[in-house]
Amino acid sequence: MPDFLPALDAAALPPGRGETVELAGRRIAVINVGGQFYALDDECPHRGGPLGSGWVDAAACQVTCPLHGWAFDLKSGAGVTVPARPVRAHPVRVVDGKVEVAL
Ligand code: FES
Repeated sequence: MPDFLPALDAAALPPGRGETVELAGRRIAVINVGGQFYALDDECPHRGGPLGSGWVDAAACQVTCPLHGWAFDLKSGAGVTVPARPVRAHPVRVVDGKVEVAL
């Protein structure tokens, strides 16, 4: 079982939004899709854009980097645009209203 770290209050991140948090010295994008939370490394593999500030496509369960438009699957971190390079996806859980992420 991985160690989960508290990231933010679930109520502070409405559906369709993302936020960048710092956990153990790393930037992590936490994203809410219809009440389901996802976590990816925040740094886009293109030029480091902040995925926590990206556009959320709830229907496709994807986030698009705000700098140049690369998109990523929120469940797997797979790149879905060409050229496609992945980001790391992290396990997420919600405990007592807190979103927790395992690095
Ligand atoms: S930095 Fe993300 S698409 Fe360029």
